[in-house]
Amino acid sequence: MTQQMHQKGVGRWAWAAIAAAVLVAACGGGGGGSSTATPSTPTTPTTPTTPTTPVAGAVKIFDRTTAPAKLSEWNLVLNDGNNLTLNQGVIPYDLNSALFTDYAFKLRAIYVPAGKKITYKVDGTLDFPIGSAIAKTFYYPKATGTDPAYQAVARQNQTEQGSSIALASHVLIETRLLVLQDDGTWVGLPYVWDADQKDATLRIGGRDLPVELVGSSGNEKITYAVPSASDCLKCHSTQTSGGNGILPIGPKARNMNKNYEFSAGNVENQLTNLDDLKLLAGFTGLSGAPANVDWRDATKTYEARAKAYLDVNCAHCHSSRGAAFQSGLMLDYDSVGNPVPSNVTWGVCKKPLAYGGAGATRKYDIEPGNADLSVLLYRMSHTATADVMPSVGRKVNHTEGIEMVRGWINQITLPGCGN
Ligand code: HEC
Ligand code: HEC
Repeated sequence: MTQQMHQKGVGRWAWAAIAAAVLVAACGGGGGGSSTATPSTPTTPTTPTTPTTPVAGAVKIFDRTTAPAKLSEWNLVLNDGNNLTLNQGVIPYDLNSALFTDYAFKLRAIYVPAGKKITYKVDGTLDFPIGSAIAKTFYYPKATGTDPAYQAVARQNQTEQGSSIALASHVLIETRLLVLQDDGTWVGLPYVWDADQKDATLRIGGRDLPVELVGSSGNEKITYAVPSASDCLKCHSTQTSGGNGILPIGPKARNMNKNYEFSAGNVENQLTNLDDLKLLAGFTGLSGAPANVDWRDATKTYEARAKAYLDVNCAHCHSSRGAAFQSGLMLDYDSVGNPVPSNVTWGVCKKPLAYGGAGATRKYDIEPGNADLSVLLYRMSHTATADVMPSVGRKVNHTEGIEMVRGWINQITLPGCGN
C-alpha cells in the first residue's frame, strides 16, 4: 500500500490504509476523501484486494538536462488506469490558503531523498535537501458540457485531500514539477496529461487546452493555459523581473501548518506528520509555529483572510523579489494591513504607476471603505489583458475571492483618499 509511508505508526494504520483504499475505489471518490464530507470509518476491515497497481520502482530524480519526456519515469505518481496514486515516500500536502487557478483542484506532494531532511523555518520557504521534488497535479471533476471540442469539467470552489485521484470521475490536466538539482538550483518542468490519461508528456513550451467550466451559474469556455518552463520564472523567481533562480512558494510553515486527511479518517497535522516521519529538522513542535487562516473561513477577520489570500495569490510578484516590485505595491503577508512603513505600501491611497486599462478611471489601488472605487478589486474582477491580475495563471474571475476582497476593502476605516 502506498499510503502507509505518509503516516506515523505504520503498523497501526496498515488496516485502515488498506480499508480506506478499497473504500475510495468502491466509492469512486477522488482525492481519497474531501474536506467537506465526513469520512466514513469502515467497521469491519475488508479483505485486502490484490493491488492492481504494478509494483513501482523507487522514485527517480533527473536534472534539467536529463528530464524524461514522460512523467511516469520519475515514479512520483503511479497511474493504474483507475487511480492516480502517490508513490511510497511521496507525501501529499495542502495549504491553509492556496493559489486560484481557474477552479482546478490540486494534488500537491513532496519527495525527500532517503536519509535527508527538510529544515524547518518559522519564516520563508522551508529548506529542502538536494534531490527533493515537489509535484503539483492540476485536475477537475468531470462534467457534461455543451461542446465536444472542449473538455467539460465541474467548477467547484472546494479542495479535496487524500493521496489519490479517481480517474473515472476526474480529468487530469497537468503535473508541474519543481526539482532541486545537484548544483543547488531548482528546475521547473511542465508535464501535460495525454488525451488517454495514461501518462503525461513534458511540454517545455506549455500548452493551451480548450476547457469548459460547468457550474450552477452557467458554463464558461476558456483556453486553459499550461505555463511554459520559462513562465515558471514569472512567479517562482528569486529575483525581481524573473531572474534565473526558481524557488518554491507554498511550503512555508504558516501555510503548511494545518491538518490533512491522508486517507479516509486518517487526519494529522502536516508539520507534525513530516516530523514523525523524521523528515523535518529543527522543528520543536506546533506551539511556536505560525498559521495563516483559510481565506474562505468567514469566522476569521477580513484582514487575516485578505493577508492570507493576497500573500499566496499576489505576493510572489508583489514583493521585494517579485516581477511587480517596480509598481511599489507590496501584497505580501507582512505588508498588507501594516501601517509600517506606510499604508500606501499595500495600496491605500496609492496611485497606480503604469496602469492604463479600463479601470484607470479609478484613482487609487485601495480607496478605504469603497471597493468599487479601488483599482485592486477592478483588476481582480476583469480578464482583459490590460487589466487582469494576477497577470498570468487565470482565465476566469475568482468570484469567491473577489467577494472576500470586496468585503475587506469595504470595512477598512482608514481616512478616504480625497481627490
Ligand atoms: C501565476 C504564477 C505561477 C506560475 C506561472 C507558476 N506557478 Fe507554480 N506556484 C505558484 C504559487 C503561488 C504556488 C503556491 C501556492 C499553491 O500551491 O497553491 C505554486 C506552487 C507550485 C508547486 C508546489 C510547490 C510550491 O512552489 O509551492 C510546484 C511544483 C509548481 N508551482 C511548479 C510550477 C512550474 C513547474 C511552473 C512552470 C511550468 C509554475 N509552477 C508556474 C504560482 C505560479
Ligand atoms: C505574475 C506576476 C503578478 C502577479 C501574480 C500579480 N501581479 Fe499585479 N502587477 C504585476 C505587474 C508586473 C504590475 C505592474 C504593471 C501593471 O500595472 O500592469 C502589477 C500591477 C498591479 C496593480 C497596480 C499597482 C500600482 O500601484 O501600480 C495592482 C492593483 C495589482 N497589480 C493587483 C494585483 C493583485 C490584487 C494580485 C493578486 C490577486 C496581483 N496583482 C498579482 C504582476 C503581477
